[in-house]
Amino acid sequence: MAKKEIKTIGVLTSGGDAPGMNAAIRAVVRTALQKGLAVKGIMRGYAGLLAEEIVDMNRASVADCINKGGTILYTARCLEFTTPEGQKRGAEICRKHGIDGVVVIGGDGSFKGAGKLAALGINTIGIPGTIDLDIACTDYTVGFDTAVNTAMEAIDKIRDTSTSHERCSIIEVMGRRAGYIALWCGIANGAEEILIPEKYDGDEQAIVNRITEARKRGKKHYIIINAEGIGHSTSMARRIEAATGVETRATILGHMQRGGSPTCKDRVYASIMGAKAAELLAEGATNRVVAYKNGKYVDFDIQEALQMKKNIEEEEFMIATKMIN
Ligand code: ADP
Ligand code: F6P
Repeated sequence: MAKKEIKTIGVLTSGGDAPGMNAAIRAVVRTALQKGLAVKGIMRGYAGLLAEEIVDMNRASVADCINKGGTILYTARCLEFTTPEGQKRGAEICRKHGIDGVVVIGGDGSFKGAGKLAALGINTIGIPGTIDLDIACTDYTVGFDTAVNTAMEAIDKIRDTSTSHERCSIIEVMGRRAGYIALWCGIANGAEEILIPEKYDGDEQAIVNRITEARKRGKKHYIIINAEGIGHSTSMARRIEAATGVETRATILGHMQRGGSPTCKDRVYASIMGAKAAELLAEGATNRVVAYKNGKYVDFDIQEALQMKKNIEEEEFMIATKMIN
């Protein structure tokens, strides 16, 4: 079948925002313009598509955004787009606005939506954007590097006060289904415990025992990094304090981890992925996800990418826990 000629592309951000999304948008827009394509910004993800919140974009539309957190296109979650009727309407709206292809920056949910649009004749390319790093086809997701650095700096600060007061601190980091942020911070902050959904067996008594032993050895602080997927940090703190007699505080870092100026890595990788996505669309490719795998930028079929599985690197987890004990 002859490849569809692409004249106009759209770009949207969907699901949770992530620092570096603006760098990706900027690269999509500028690369596409250089290739002679017209570019439209679709505001607020699939919700904005269905509401026809579509704006023309030029070079200036993406000026002064590479260093900014968040997404200049805003983002949203959209239940209607998960239905066949919503998807059909989305494809019709693309056609009405002359949009031949769309770059979707988001996570697995957003890629499922992109796959549906592709099946309805709108060429789509995904860019992995989530602070959680939980997209199987790629070793890098836009925003993770900034998020772990933000969390790491916050945890360093908590450690200072925790040591001064000789307390135990439970710090909850984001990651509803994945422990990557917790694991990386656990290593980077030299935490005493790393509790992640992929590994934690729920044995709180073992933690209590280790805290008591650490106190006997003269340890002044005790840092527990708890992934959001395990949660309940405040009640855990109460229980640990009662069982150990060590004053314990819980801090939930929350959405601060999703904001802030992107790191150099997030700006660079997101820019390269954005450029690649626009190039792929210009070549007539569809139903692909741009990824970074084994040190190279590659792309995968969306459905194949969604089938892939990844898990916490056993070696990373082992190394982290060995250094603790
Ligand atoms: P993420 O993209 O970060 O995984 P979500 O899972 O919230 O975030 O998905 C973002 C949006 O993608 C949803 O609000 C919805 O509009 C769309 N989406 C999610 N799952 C599907 C699906 N199975 N089919 C079509 N669209 C979907
Ligand atoms: O962006 C990913 C993520 O931060 C998850 O770790 C978290 O569970 C979720 O988003 C929360 O998103 P929201 O508060 O926007 O629903």
